[in-house]
Amino acid sequence: MKQLRLGVNIDHIATVRNARGGSHPDPVTAALLAQTAGADGITAHLREDRRHIRDEDIFALKEAINVPLNFEMAATEEMVKIACEVRPNASCIVPEKRDELTTEGGLAVRAQQDRLAEQVGRLKAEGIRVSLFVDADKDDLSAARTIGADIVELHTGRFCDLPAGSERQHEYERIVSAARFADACGLEVHAGHGLSFETAGQIAQIQDIVELNIGHFLIGEAVFTGLKDAIVRMRQVINRSGAVL
Ligand code: PXP
Repeated sequence: MKQLRLGVNIDHIATVRNARGGSHPDPVTAALLAQTAGADGITAHLREDRRHIRDEDIFALKEAINVPLNFEMAATEEMVKIACEVRPNASCIVPEKRDELTTEGGLAVRAQQDRLAEQVGRLKAEGIRVSLFVDADKDDLSAARTIGADIVELHTGRFCDLPAGSERQHEYERIVSAARFADACGLEVHAGHGLSFETAGQIAQIQDIVELNIGHFLIGEAVFTGLKDAIVRMRQVINRSGAVL
């Protein structure tokens, strides 16, 4: 069975750096360490307000790492232009609101199909694989396929936030069924947001999902055990052997 890929999001290394305005800790150093620890890809989100990753970080990451760079971006003209210059392995289009703490909810693909189709086309013309960050909604998944996306990343935030119980189980089943539907549509299926050792282990059991993108928990855990150890442990958790901590 193919190993589930682990994408490590290093945004919050930049959050800590920016808290003091200097250059430490450096997100590129973190990305190289993550790569050595077994990350299959590096993800970074250049937000409109540059609250963590900055333009120069994205260019430096692309230059420095040997694993694929997944560039998270809002569906704006500015970000499409930057992506076309950086030419990451993939661009993951996410909804973005200025005053949110993190990405809340998936992209409303169907509601802005024409605009997204134009942007997806421009990114693909540069050889960039395009991913759309979506909720487990079949209309949005079908629309993602229609406009030519290569990948969908299913939003796991709600599942991760819910307490154990029937509502959480229901959310899990929605993700399972969305992953199956997306795979059947010919989309590559990723998942991410809010994942911890516990929730990543559960999402890893969904066979149609081939990649997880994880940031905040790993960077937080790194404070206690170091980034390498956090990534190695996550790798063990998500290996589909059913291994648990
Ligand atoms: N995937 C996407 C599309 C995201 O926007 C984020 C947050 O930047 C993540 C994954 C990672 O989420 P977290 O930091 O909660 O692990």
